[in-house]
Amino acid sequence: MKSGVSSFQTDGAIMIRHGVVILVSLLWFATAEASPCSINGLPLVKNISELPQHNYGRSGLSHTIIAGSVLHGMKEIEVWLQTFAPGSRTPIHRHSCEQVFVVLKGQGTLYLAPSSHSKYPGNPQEFHIFPNSTFHIPVNDVHQVWNTGKHEDLQVLVVISRPPVKVFMYDDWSMPHTASKLKFPYYWDEKCYQTTMWKDEL
Ligand SMILES: *[C@@H]1O[C@H](CO)[C@@H](O)[C@H](O)[C@H]1NC(C)=O
Ligand SMILES: *[C@@H]1O[C@H](CO)[C@@H](O)[C@H](O)[C@H]1NC(C)=O
Repeated sequence: MKSGVSSFQTDGAIMIRHGVVILVSLLWFATAEASPCSINGLPLVKNISELPQHNYGRSGLSHTIIAGSVLHGMKEIEVWLQTFAPGSRTPIHRHSCEQVFVVLKGQGTLYLAPSSHSKYPGNPQEFHIFPNSTFHIPVNDVHQVWNTGKHEDLQVLVVISRPPVKVFMYDDWSMPHTASKLKFPYYWDEKCYQTTMWKDEL
């Protein structure tokens, strides 16, 4: 039979252990709530002005994920709002997804090297883009969007298929396709990307 003292000590230890478990659970809930990677807990209707914007180290860029694969669990498409300050631009790049742009504000130039069988993109075609213009980038065509304006921001709404995006980047238009560098997960997916989350089926 246990002595009263050791029974008291055991009860005390159990109570402390329970206390710790509750505290840890509370902390876990608190962090889950505050996590920038949480796919739950966001309202269905969101105010774009209140969504976070980042430049991911690219000066002149402001990128907002309106509906994201890594961030919100989107499976088929992803939607971004991007703003380019005068003179700023995307890298020269390609990706194997469909992409549609809608120009909300400002002007700029789309550089597009139509896919060909040559070993490198070559001289791109230039297209003027303007407010309320729209364009799509064919799968794997190397391209660059550039705010060639001097004073006004260029703001675009971008829709891509098959997220999260896998981007192949080029230093210039004569870099061989085979030398382009894969960036995956892309800058805005890096923080929350987990290899375990890509299960389409139950
Ligand atoms: C959306 O957010 C902006 C910035 O916080 C705010 O000024 C605006 O009133 C909000 N719109 C609505 C309908 O709440
Ligand atoms: C864009 O074009 C559509 C179709 O003509 C028009 O209804 C809309 O007002 C235009 N928006 C802007 C911002 O010019």
